[in-house]
Amino acid sequence: MFYPEELVEEVRTKNDIVDVISGYVKLQRRGSSYLGLCPFHNEKTPSFSVSGSKQIYHCFGCGAGGNVFTFLMEYENYSFPEAMKQLAERAGVKLPEAEFDEEAKKREGRRAKLLEVNKEAAKYFYYQLRSEKGQAGYRYLKGRELTDDTIHRFGLGFSNMTSDDLTKYLKNKGYPDKLLCEAGLAGFDEKYGTRDKFWNRVMFPIQDTNHRVIGFGGRVMGEGKPKYLNSQETMIFDKSRNLYGLNFAKSSRAGNIILCEGYMDVIAMHQAGFTQAVASLGTSFTEGQAMLLRRYADEVILAYDSDDAGVKAALRAIGILKEAGLAGRVLNLAPWKDPDEFMKNLGREAFEERIRQAENSFFFELRILQRNYDLNDPESKTRFHREIARKLCGFSEEVERENYIEAVAQRYHIGFENLRKLVYAYAARTGMAAPAVRPKSGIQKKPDGGDNKKKPQRLLLTWLVEEPSVYPKIKKYISPRDFTEDLYKKIAEKLFQGLEEGHVEPAALVGLFEDEEEQREAALVFNTKIDALRSRTEQEKAFHDIVVSVKRNSLEYFGSLMGADVSALNQVIEGKKALEELSKTHISLD
Ligand code: CTP
Ligand code: MN
Repeated sequence: MFYPEELVEEVRTKNDIVDVISGYVKLQRRGSSYLGLCPFHNEKTPSFSVSGSKQIYHCFGCGAGGNVFTFLMEYENYSFPEAMKQLAERAGVKLPEAEFDEEAKKREGRRAKLLEVNKEAAKYFYYQLRSEKGQAGYRYLKGRELTDDTIHRFGLGFSNMTSDDLTKYLKNKGYPDKLLCEAGLAGFDEKYGTRDKFWNRVMFPIQDTNHRVIGFGGRVMGEGKPKYLNSQETMIFDKSRNLYGLNFAKSSRAGNIILCEGYMDVIAMHQAGFTQAVASLGTSFTEGQAMLLRRYADEVILAYDSDDAGVKAALRAIGILKEAGLAGRVLNLAPWKDPDEFMKNLGREAFEERIRQAENSFFFELRILQRNYDLNDPESKTRFHREIARKLCGFSEEVERENYIEAVAQRYHIGFENLRKLVYAYAARTGMAAPAVRPKSGIQKKPDGGDNKKKPQRLLLTWLVEEPSVYPKIKKYISPRDFTEDLYKKIAEKLFQGLEEGHVEPAALVGLFEDEEEQREAALVFNTKIDALRSRTEQEKAFHDIVVSVKRNSLEYFGSLMGADVSALNQVIEGKKALEELSKTHISLD
């Protein structure tokens, strides 16, 4: 723990999880808990549950879960101390200097240092652009019609000709070579030592949604290769989970997001008043970025370059947006190549008009697809129609699918019923009329295999949390050692101790785990659904089965250890006896 446990607990208990999550997710009361659309995966019916009594959240769809700290860490991409800080502030709790354990201290210290050195570098580049040496950079940006205001707003800067300028400056301020290299601001060279990574380029600081500089893009002035040089990924710079310009776009309230390809496009858009423009970071658009955008808008307008590469990238992005549940439309920039050029030549009103006319992304896909077919040839035309039918199967919701079949039939002069038949024939053949929408993002994981052993253990823990009164009845058969999953054993140790003392606090138990993956799993433990069993007799039978399964599994486990571990023998003897007794005993739940 970074802070004393009592303090973490104080901050946690003073921040009601329902209140905190309500600030991010629309929640509705449902029985004893609250339900909403999960912010961590795409869904149309709510399976994200927040429990006020347990002070934890859990998504039945994607498995995300944890306590109020975990939520902020996942949602805001905060480290634990950052979440702690925000929640302490929210509750008016004063925090002392944190006491870090060695490893956590190192990790947190490195993050803070990386942010700090990036900020220093941004200030330095910014200053250079306004100095004598930076005039070439300033002229370049002015030549691209950026106003002083815009240059200031985006914190643009300049790295000058000398190849160790920044390095010298930062080293003078006490930052070690190693940090500069780690931050991607410098590189090490056998011959020259530590040298600047960026020189003679105009600099674009990249900020996260909290306006912290996390990396840089540097552009050559005029022709030259590579056109852009970008910071490499670091522990604070995750290119798949940030977007250029999002720190401003997130509060634009335009109702849509304009997704561009380049930094310059974003800047030109913002300068013209389209402050909802963002771009990915020199890499292609990712699922993580789509999930990020979902927080701020329902619709994404693609403003990719109009060349072949741009079209290809747009098609890819459309798929990702759809997977994330975002509606997409595609902007036609012709005859100009990209938003920046368009804006320069036709201006904001024309752009506004293009936004209104932006094409539904499905029709865009079909229009591009059509290029591969010769519609004058019946053979090729049929193949085209089949391909359309295949794509129409991608709409899992019936109303939506029917609407699209109708619209496509009209647009491509296909008989509505014919097309419909084609779609359903295709669906029947491949069994994919309604493909299940699966969250694919790496942040979430369903419980993995081996669940046969884990599930009874999880159910027993859940049962004990839900009905602590059964504890005295089972404690003679079950001890924390019987939980063969490490994580469950840890939970059981704390839980049994709490039960002995007569208090149970699921959210505090979740907080025992530092690792987010473990917190998620722990939250799952407290949210495993116990099937609504009809009668008390059925419940008692189920409970009995669970206790027996846990014990039997423990017996098997210790049996397998007997050769190596003497204490296992005792556990086995005890386990055999307990199982025998259990087989003759009725555990009453009343
Ligand atoms: N990019 C990159 N490295 C390159 C070229 C491009 O990282 N060598 C990334 C940058 O993030 C860039 C984006 O791809 O912003 C789009 O590239 P491009 O359209 O070529 O650049 P623009 O931002 O439009 O820049 P400019 O208008 O100055 O050409
Ligand atoms: Mn461009």
